[in-house]
Amino acid sequence: MISLDQASQSVQGQYFTPELAAELIASFPRLPKADCLRVLDPGAGSGMLTAAIVDRVCREGEIGRVEVTAAELDPIMLPALDRTAELCRQQGHRMGVDVEVKVVQGDVIALQTGFEAELGDDFDLVIMNPPYRKLASLSWQRRAMAAAGWETGNLYAAFLALGVDSLAPGGQLVAITPRSFANGPYFEQFRKRLLSQVALGRVHTFESRSTVFADTGVLQENIVLSATKGGTRQDVTITSSRDHTDPVNERTVPYGELVAPDDRHQFIRIITNGADDRAAKAIRSLPASLSSLAVRVSTGRVVDFRARQNLQDTPTPGSLPLIYPGNLRGGLIEWPRSIGKAQGFRLLGEADAKALLPSGYYVAVKRFSAKEERRRIVASVWDPTQHHHQPVAFENHLNVFHAEGKGLDRELAWGLCAWLNSSVVDRHFRTFSGHTQVNATDLRSMNYPDEDALRRLGHHLDVLPGQEELDQLVDRLALETVAA
Ligand SMILES: C[S@@+](CC[C@H](N)C(=O)[O-])C[C@H]1O[C@@H](n2cnc3c(N)ncnc32)[C@H](O)[C@@H]1O
Repeated sequence: MISLDQASQSVQGQYFTPELAAELIASFPRLPKADCLRVLDPGAGSGMLTAAIVDRVCREGEIGRVEVTAAELDPIMLPALDRTAELCRQQGHRMGVDVEVKVVQGDVIALQTGFEAELGDDFDLVIMNPPYRKLASLSWQRRAMAAAGWETGNLYAAFLALGVDSLAPGGQLVAITPRSFANGPYFEQFRKRLLSQVALGRVHTFESRSTVFADTGVLQENIVLSATKGGTRQDVTITSSRDHTDPVNERTVPYGELVAPDDRHQFIRIITNGADDRAAKAIRSLPASLSSLAVRVSTGRVVDFRARQNLQDTPTPGSLPLIYPGNLRGGLIEWPRSIGKAQGFRLLGEADAKALLPSGYYVAVKRFSAKEERRRIVASVWDPTQHHHQPVAFENHLNVFHAEGKGLDRELAWGLCAWLNSSVVDRHFRTFSGHTQVNATDLRSMNYPDEDALRRLGHHLDVLPGQEELDQLVDRLALETVAA
């Protein structure tokens, strides 16, 4: 095992695929009955995926020749990659398959976005575990990708994009990547172009986020996907396992369940079991949307590092409440609280008033839930009656539900808060979001119970009951009416 220092690991995105995971990934592509299989492994590292696909081709014995191009940027990896290439050739020789592995040192983005694709653009299979790293908007990589027609804020998305561009029509892309491109606005342009060029055939999720790359300390929810360039949108196989060593559960769903044709954001929804399916169906059949409820959701207006002069550690008579995620406690916003964050917002000029919302009930949702939190969506109510009916400021790490910039009424606020904290919403949310970030777009994309149901739910609440009781209330007051 090659030992890399952690700084270079995160700069180059060097997290290598464990052997069993590589085997799982290499089991994904259909192996066509052809004389020769042309494979690209971009960001090949020590060649784990190359070795796994060559091994499979040799063992299945239906293809006479494999030509792999293994491209790697980091010279430190080359001796190991060369060695893997040699072992692959030897294995081919032993098993009667003609194996050629061409190792190319270079930057895959530079190589594939130039005047012509230097590695080639007619591969039958691109198999990858690409590097993950944000790409700054002015970086040459981002501009080169934009010139190639792709909006890619992350290196892994750039690799996926180039993977698609490097395929012959009908070629297959198989990749293990973070799940973050499946939803949210950040990857929307990328996702739409990707989905317009390939048909997904299989998606695999790992239920445990850390185990696949456990030895590297990576905390990512990863998926393996296989897709066909220009393929037809047929049923999709969804598989899941706790990690790469576990048995695999399997479901087959119509393509529209994975990517709904009328979804203008083209979220990729990965429903792995019956309970998630029921939750997703129950929520999809709900009648309301935030706009039909006349409720809006926006990110908190105070960006604290830009408003330092306005912040006060502890509230003083002249300051107004400032709410951070740390103020959200079991369904209610507790203020002031000792959370190591400013609790007061001072108005220093007229423009500062824009940061405030008038006195009223609001529901705040954390934009980034902590990993240890049981639910992804964590919502709490701001109750103006407990705070002298003052205007209030919400910090930017919160999403805030409001009515055209004003407060909601009490019942609606508590109904929304209970609904958002319910297990059925959590299940549904996890089918389209694989990370701890909760975007306002995600919250807008969901269906909601109608106003009466939300009010019935909120009517008796001024604290959040325990999860079991809350879920029973939601079942009875917000979901049963749909079923009836
Ligand atoms: C996540 S690792 C995976 C390595 C290998 N594919 C595997 O599955 O074990 C990504 C690899 O991409 C390489 N890499 C990073 N940026 C690259 C680039 N622009 N062009 C080519 N390789 C790159 C890294 O050095 C690293 O070896």
